[in-house]
Amino acid sequence: MPQWLKDAVFYEIYPQSFYDTNGDGIGDLQGIIEKLDYVKDLGCNAIWLNPIYDSPFMDAGYDVRDYKKVAPRYGTNEDAVRLFEQAHKKGIKILLDLVPGHTSDTHQWFSQAKQSTDSPLAGRYIFTNSVWEAPPQYKFMCGICPRDGNYLVNFFSSQPALNYGFYDITHPDWQMPCDHPDCLATVEALKDIMRFWLDLGADGFRVDMADSLVKNDEEKIATAKIWRGIREMLDKDYPQAALVSEWSNPERAINNAGFHMDFCLDHCKNANNYLFRYTEDGENKGFFNKNGKGNIMDFVRAYVPGYEKTKGNGYISMFTCNHDTPRLTNYIEKEAIKLGYAVIFTLPGVPFLYYGDEIGMKYAKNIPSVEGGFNRTGSRTPMQWNSGKNLGFSSSDKPYIPVDSSEGAPTVENQKSDPDSIYKVVTDIIRLRHENEDLQADGDFEVVYAEENTFPFIYRRGAFVIAVNPSAKEVSVDIDLPVSETIYKINDSKAEDGRVTMGAQSFLMIKTK
Ligand code: NOJ
Repeated sequence: MPQWLKDAVFYEIYPQSFYDTNGDGIGDLQGIIEKLDYVKDLGCNAIWLNPIYDSPFMDAGYDVRDYKKVAPRYGTNEDAVRLFEQAHKKGIKILLDLVPGHTSDTHQWFSQAKQSTDSPLAGRYIFTNSVWEAPPQYKFMCGICPRDGNYLVNFFSSQPALNYGFYDITHPDWQMPCDHPDCLATVEALKDIMRFWLDLGADGFRVDMADSLVKNDEEKIATAKIWRGIREMLDKDYPQAALVSEWSNPERAINNAGFHMDFCLDHCKNANNYLFRYTEDGENKGFFNKNGKGNIMDFVRAYVPGYEKTKGNGYISMFTCNHDTPRLTNYIEKEAIKLGYAVIFTLPGVPFLYYGDEIGMKYAKNIPSVEGGFNRTGSRTPMQWNSGKNLGFSSSDKPYIPVDSSEGAPTVENQKSDPDSIYKVVTDIIRLRHENEDLQADGDFEVVYAEENTFPFIYRRGAFVIAVNPSAKEVSVDIDLPVSETIYKINDSKAEDGRVTMGAQSFLMIKTK
């Protein structure tokens, strides 16, 4: 287990929207290098960088054309190495985004594979044996390449699925078992890409659609086996390299597949969803909504079993948002967001902060889709730095996605100087986390008070007890906490005389004796 994960707090950077230094309207690696001190000042000591590889950008770079080349719009491989070096000097680790399940249909592997079954890479992708065969349970592209056969895609039509084989073989004429030499060669190709970037100085990978490798693998048995093999490679040759999975099933991802961390994504009715974005009959019923309609027990039931089962093996990664998810500002307001972040950064595991969330950037509704973003484009608008042109993102007259033009749009500049800002809470809580091992990834976690449809929620992290009341009403509960010190508060709240009293929308962190 990479030791640095114990106190890691990640910042997700969507490179095209972070900081543009060459005036072409798109962010670049030099821009990230120039903002490393900003990341450090936030208290983040690790970065997850969305794909930076050469790509036609039909899916924002998740359609890779060349895994070993930085997209020219971001810079060069040398710039990536400089980024690793500069980040390391500042104590910041960098995880790249690994896209193992599919490539762009412009990748040279695919250009070869689509020609004919005689191509040396014919087995790198999943093709049927005839253009007339396309079983409807699979997503095939039909009749569009010289080779007689249809190919499977993973996500958009431009993303042919790489061939790691099938676990349950239902069509033996075209489905290969996972131990077929062509499937094993795909795994080797993946390892080769990982080694390439680790050798250049990357600190690991966020793994896109990590559960998607082997097809017809309902229980993910064969997919987990591939990742365990990769983890063995890391343990042996790169023991400080870290892997975080886009999977959202901690038992499978951590215990079975060997990931160090697993994202708790915003999937309907999972732990993250119940905290923030859970919506029923058009009404937001997330726990942090001040309407008081959320149920903390939904979160507890979704979160605690996975935590208990994976404790000691790896970490659940809660996030504020990511590039696929509407920002929290779409659901709840400033005070609620502060409370939500204070909880995310005091739960066990390794938390992730999405760029711009620290200043309360908005989810831009109804803007045109850019680079295959569709409704996700609203969470991918350019970072808002200051009051200058394009809020400091770019000197271009036409940023590739429009910058928030609303009056009073938050910027780093105006939020940093506001003592009542989300930025202040984020930086305060992250600082407390770094200062106290009990609040970090491995610190003990225990639910102290959680009742159906009731506020507050109280939990213990080692010597700390944390209480939160997102509802608009004051609540109190009889609990005798041996308070030695109040460490942090948002709005009115206190723990004394055998009672915890939490004002409307409040947060309290105390240290016990
Ligand atoms: C998940 C990524 O987060 C998303 O942005 C991408 O479109 C799909 N995987 C396909 O790679």
